[in-house]
Amino acid sequence: MARVFSGIQPTGEVHLGNYLGAVRRWVASQHTDEAIHCIVDLHAITIPKDPAELRAKTLEVTQVLVAAGLDPEVCTLFAQSQVAEHAELGWIMECTAAVGELRRMTQFKDKSDTAGFVSAALLTYPALQAADILLYDTEKVPVGDDQRQHIELARDLAVRFNRRFGDTFVIPAHAIPPVAARVMDLQAPERKMSKSLDSPQGTVLVLDDPKVIERKFTRAVTDSEAEVRYDPEAKPGVSNLLSILAAATDGDPVALAERYTRYGPLKADAAEAVIELLRPLQARFAELAADPTQTNGILALGADKARKTAGATMARVRDRLGLPAV
Ligand code: TYM
Repeated sequence: MARVFSGIQPTGEVHLGNYLGAVRRWVASQHTDEAIHCIVDLHAITIPKDPAELRAKTLEVTQVLVAAGLDPEVCTLFAQSQVAEHAELGWIMECTAAVGELRRMTQFKDKSDTAGFVSAALLTYPALQAADILLYDTEKVPVGDDQRQHIELARDLAVRFNRRFGDTFVIPAHAIPPVAARVMDLQAPERKMSKSLDSPQGTVLVLDDPKVIERKFTRAVTDSEAEVRYDPEAKPGVSNLLSILAAATDGDPVALAERYTRYGPLKADAAEAVIELLRPLQARFAELAADPTQTNGILALGADKARKTAGATMARVRDRLGLPAV
């Protein structure tokens, strides 16, 4: 049994990239691994958020995760801000990280280019992410490919801290899926599908109506050739459709390409596979969304469980650093 930790921001809507790259794998591993999953609300506020929207999104993302199959009795599911040790170890990781290495993070570069207000926390974001992971003696971090650099930094910080203060943290590794590690936007297949609102037709939301999903796939941008081939460099649109279909049907994108000679049937099959994959999630979500009190109870239960491990790690860290016990 490995200790697994991963998180998701309560920002925007949960999309197919989040689902295939991360959430689906969390659900699959909860019975074989010791799984801890977190709605990272402190990360979300690095970019200004409306409080009512943040509150609603935190509940909604929790409901999506439970609807996707995360069982709050089996895994640990909570909101980051409910466990104060995240912020506490986040500070210590800021003291461990160098400004230069934080500046090199591509997500910081991307976000600081477009954000109107660049908070200090946008720069130190990966230090908090490292804290999230290290608090739980995490061995595996199941994420999409866009988080690779952040997890590698968490690993570097853990190694650095251990060298300086003695063995304290377990060294984590990322677990990036072989297929659909980077689901691309259906309208702009050279960039990843994301929660930002600027490509509504290119982003398939897990709660989209089946008809909407079908339309988004029908209109997906491909290319002017007429050959179905898996070649992400030369044919990003077609390759993305093949990856999505492969991920949704547990197939292989290269082998699947041989079954198609035209783009239309590929789009139709990808849409159908995604609709079928999401159908049970959508049905369960409708039930959960009707009862926010139950969702708050789920988070409270998870936070109680998480605090035990997080508290023990912080006691160890304080001792190593020469800070008084609390
Ligand atoms: P977030 O909220 O952006 O995304 C949640 C998960 O979805 C994956 N993902 C994708 N996978 C494939 N294709 C895509 N287009 C795609 N878009 C997103 C992400 O890789 C992620 O696994 N910084 C993190 C949250 C975080 C975290 C952590 C993750 C905070 N602390 C500790 C792991 C461990 C983030 O913003 O994810």
